[in-house]
Amino acid sequence: MISPSKAGLLIAVIASLLLVTASAGNFYQDVNVYFGGPRAKILQGGQLLTLSLDQSSGSGFLTKNEYLFGRFDMQLKLVPGNSAGTVTTFYLSSQGDAHDEIDFEFLGNSSGEPYTVHTNVYAQGKGGKEQQFRLWFDPTTAFHTYSIVWNSQRIIFLVDNNPIRVFNNDESKGVPFPKNQPMRVYCSLWDADDWATQGGRVKTDWSKAPFSVSYRNFNANGCVRSPGSSSTCDSTNSGNNDQAWQNQGLDAKGRNRMNWLRQRFMIYNYCADRSRFPQGFPSECKGQ
Ligand SMILES: *[C@@H]1O[C@H](CO)[C@@H](O)[C@H](O)[C@H]1NC(C)=O
Repeated sequence: MISPSKAGLLIAVIASLLLVTASAGNFYQDVNVYFGGPRAKILQGGQLLTLSLDQSSGSGFLTKNEYLFGRFDMQLKLVPGNSAGTVTTFYLSSQGDAHDEIDFEFLGNSSGEPYTVHTNVYAQGKGGKEQQFRLWFDPTTAFHTYSIVWNSQRIIFLVDNNPIRVFNNDESKGVPFPKNQPMRVYCSLWDADDWATQGGRVKTDWSKAPFSVSYRNFNANGCVRSPGSSSTCDSTNSGNNDQAWQNQGLDAKGRNRMNWLRQRFMIYNYCADRSRFPQGFPSECKGQ
């Protein structure tokens, strides 16, 4: 028989385990499904979420919380095999016409052909700041971590903690920067075979449906805006007290790492696309 004091200890241990789990993110608590209904499945007690896509619909979820700045990490395992025509997303977005958005999108491909990682930033409804990358691993066989750091000075895109892109706050040069509108985290899997794969030439093969993608270990370490509150960003609401993201930038080592990756894996940069900007590149492009 277990003694009352031992039972008390056991309860304390179990309670602390539950707390740790909760602060590591739990999809039951953190997100709502906003389209695709049963195609989104929360599994393993809230630790894993799978989205699927069939010919009648894709699926998606978004966070209950809105954030004004933060660091957002998600582990994804992308659609394996023939994923042509499918798009998997992990992005931040505010609502309304003049919305802000920070995007990671994963464009599928025919079997054996590489995924494209598409990144973009919208401020006050205006995007057009695309940069695209290949990955240095197969994103369909294991989980990898994709992160967005968003603070008042810059946005950093990371893959397995390696920076691949920095979008600086260049408001001093007249470039709008997302900084006033709280955003939610959105994730989705949908069909975009009119443009996604090889410019729309390769269509989704519905005989392979349903397509499925997995998400886990969501971590949002940011400033939560509770609905209806007029207060500014309140970092004490964050579940985790690591506030390093608030001033995070790249040191010399980080810049070297990023430049090395960009030289090898960047396949499109709007800041190098002369045909799009015959009158000259946007002002934020200097040094990009
Ligand atoms: C798919 O593979 C082709 C051929 O390797 C490549 O040109 C293309 O960029 C890849 N990605 C997409 C999304 O089309």
